[in-house]
Amino acid sequence: MAARSEIDSQNIPAHVAVIMDGNGRWAKQKGGLRIFGHQSAITAVRDTVEAAAELGVKYLTLYAFSTENWSRPAHEVMALMQLLVHTIRQETPTLLKNSIKLQSIGEITSLPASCQRELAEAKELTRNGNQMTLVLALSYSGRWDLTQAARKLSEEVAAGRVKPEQVNEQTVAGFLATAGMPDPELLIRTSGEQRISNFLLWQLAYTELYITDLLWPDFRRDHFYDAIQAYQRRERRFGKTSEQLTVS
Ligand code: IPE
Ligand code: IPE
Ligand code: MG
Repeated sequence: MAARSEIDSQNIPAHVAVIMDGNGRWAKQKGGLRIFGHQSAITAVRDTVEAAAELGVKYLTLYAFSTENWSRPAHEVMALMQLLVHTIRQETPTLLKNSIKLQSIGEITSLPASCQRELAEAKELTRNGNQMTLVLALSYSGRWDLTQAARKLSEEVAAGRVKPEQVNEQTVAGFLATAGMPDPELLIRTSGEQRISNFLLWQLAYTELYITDLLWPDFRRDHFYDAIQAYQRRERRFGKTSEQLTVS
């Protein structure tokens, strides 16, 4: 396992995104209910947030609840929402202490009122945090994001504030929920699943993917270091040849 000292502090990704998967399977292996897996995932979240902030990651985006997750059994959805309210309330003092700013992406208005309130309050309290921004993806999906961006952009065009020929990649990116954030350099997915599951579809265009078989509740800071180290060994070519990268 990678140690923190083996990490090149000059090559820390500015934005790391995580698909926190495998809570249900973890609980099943232990003979518990799925919600026990979700509850046990909080330790993994805390460890990852701390490790990322300490390394100097500027944005950490956690996929906490997808648009598709609304189709889960109602009792599981409700338990997840309650856990969300509880966790935000419990963790806000630590975020403040570590100067971490809380943000969210997703269709926040579809969340229960108590979640919206808790989230708004925590965002407000942590708004001056400048060590790292923790972005919670809640009721988020990549297609939702692209659709809402297309709608807002069409409104601008219809109102005559933007001309169709002015629409470029920057304009589109500026209407996405992640406007102003760099694209993730690294995506971590736990539980071995080799898919994107409708996460940041536009933003992941050139992201390095790191998939581990570990189930999310078992993920700890050393596993995060492993992912960063694996990222640091990758050659990011962006369409160029390997030779082109060495001549600057
Ligand atoms: C991820 O774990 C948490 C959420 C999607 C909310 P899962 O609940 O998907 O766990 P598995 O994939 O069923 O093991
Ligand atoms: C992805 O996990 C969403 C989150 C981690 C919140 P899922 O468990 O919902 O993904 P699929 O459905 O197996 O692809
Ligand atoms: Mg899953």
